[in-house]
Amino acid sequence: MSDSAIKHVAIIMDGNGRWAAERSHNRVWGHIRGSRLISDIVEESEELNLSALTLFAFSTENWSRPIGEIKVLFSLLKKYLKKERDRILANDIRFKVIGDSSQFPEETIEMIKSLENETVGNKGLKLTFAFGYGGRQEIVEAANLFYEKNPGKKITEQDLSENLFASDIGDVDLLIRTGGDYRISNFLLWQLAYAELYFTDVKWPSFTRGEFKNIVSQTNERERRFGGITGQRDLKSSVFLAQDNKKKMNLQQGYK
Ligand code: FPP
Repeated sequence: MSDSAIKHVAIIMDGNGRWAAERSHNRVWGHIRGSRLISDIVEESEELNLSALTLFAFSTENWSRPIGEIKVLFSLLKKYLKKERDRILANDIRFKVIGDSSQFPEETIEMIKSLENETVGNKGLKLTFAFGYGGRQEIVEAANLFYEKNPGKKITEQDLSENLFASDIGDVDLLIRTGGDYRISNFLLWQLAYAELYFTDVKWPSFTRGEFKNIVSQTNERERRFGGITGQRDLKSSVFLAQDNKKKMNLQQGYK
């Protein structure tokens, strides 16, 4: 697995409400059951030697849900942080929450900051929860952050990447969305530019560690070409070849 092409997996954990409704339960039961699966997926990500796992747990749009449901989602986040803290530290996981936390309860902010600070230098899996997150907002904030530091300068792709909420996770290699919808839903818009997309009808609480493993393994076997032809294994080499070819074209035009 060490030379696998899939290094960063992002997941839209959708279908919780419908999963619960199908079982005649309240929507929040789906979130509760869905949250139980997260530890398994984190463990499998380590097993698969992924460098990053990014999970969409609460979007900017989710603030419009009933307040009771929002409270449950926040309490599940806190529960996860309490339950998994020791394991995260023991396994050298780098933990981070991305999104706008300005409206989060003080206690939640403190718990997040404390674990982020303790794991900032860790070298294992980069585990990121998108919570209060919106992709467009992230891009706008990255641009604003850059211009604050570099007034009057032109922004480059690299500048923008370096100013995202979590610049260390890099591009997403594989996006998985459960729950049967075929949408990106404002998730990691910048980082998804070259991602493989995998949509499954399975609703998140019914998704399994084994299915996750199979999807990553199958995608690894499929070829990713980054706009080129067979044999181009990563975006950097593709960009390099493109630049080289552009130079060659210009030289040839010069001969005419
Ligand atoms: C989408 O399902 C899911 C969410 C809005 C929340 C996802 C959150 C979890 C899986 C648990 C969070 C846990 C932690 C540890 C942060 P939906 O409610 O939109 O489902 P539906 O499309 O069936 O209505």
